[in-house]
Amino acid sequence: MKVVHTVEELRDQLRGQTRAAFVPTMGNLHAGHLALMRTARQYGDPVVASIFVNRLQFGPNEDFEKYPRTLVDDIEKLEKERNVYVLFAPDERELYPEPQKYRVQTPDELGRILEGEHRPGFFEGVCTVVLKLLSCVQPKVAVFGKKDYQQLMIVRSMCRQFQLPVEIVAHETVRADDGLALSSRNVYLTSEQRAIAPMLFQSLQATRQELLAGCHDVSALEAASAQKLVSHGWDVDYFSVRRQRDLLAPTPDELERREPLVILTAARLGATRLIDNLEV
Ligand code: PAJ
Repeated sequence: MKVVHTVEELRDQLRGQTRAAFVPTMGNLHAGHLALMRTARQYGDPVVASIFVNRLQFGPNEDFEKYPRTLVDDIEKLEKERNVYVLFAPDERELYPEPQKYRVQTPDELGRILEGEHRPGFFEGVCTVVLKLLSCVQPKVAVFGKKDYQQLMIVRSMCRQFQLPVEIVAHETVRADDGLALSSRNVYLTSEQRAIAPMLFQSLQATRQELLAGCHDVSALEAASAQKLVSHGWDVDYFSVRRQRDLLAPTPDELERREPLVILTAARLGATRLIDNLEV
């Protein structure tokens, strides 16, 4: 695997390549990231990964400074898997040599709800860096995880609207044996918090069962799930049943007609914020 730190080196490595498959990450790689890279190999060649902790997508009170930076370990993991041909790991001066004044503005409907409501500026930061990374790598395909469901939808719609010549491939969420979605932020959890963390996925599964069993009182389901999490010490940002196609609330009629749904949640254990979702 070639590790490059500058856009120039990256372009040198990829010169003439038209079928690259790309996996952008912020590092501290886990089995979820590695699965995306394995999948990328099925869609294109060479596989390019990036590691860049993107300041633009962190709020002023979020964990940008303490976000785990583990480049040496990450490189070792990637070398072992042998799926990635080029790793692009720029520093801030390389990707933001001057203040980033042009930003991708996200649409209110999709960009300001759920994660966008609780993390103002988050999707603008994500889209801006993803657009930049896509323009550096110019891949045929880019792979994103469903773990960040709204991010995946927004990136996909951004690429469509800008007519970027890239196909966005979705990858299923990779979970620990007890159901907890793998996340770089799981390292923040104390052992007590780690023990109750699987509750988040369990509450999604329970809500899914209720919906499948014909319970259509969505507000009551959402409130009961959130309340249960709160009673076990979680701080719940949202627990919402939405339509898969646009992440808006389903109408009673759509519930009757079995509109494809997704349940999304974000909740904190202490200072650690976890997100998860489940399709219905
Ligand atoms: P990061 O959180 O490092 O995630 C990188 C990619 O891995 C994203 O597409 C994310 O959805 C996916 N991913 C993370 N955990 C996963 C899991 N358990 N199962 C499947 N996929 C998983 O998401 C970002 O970085 C950034 O916002 C980024 C897109 C790189 C822009 O800065």
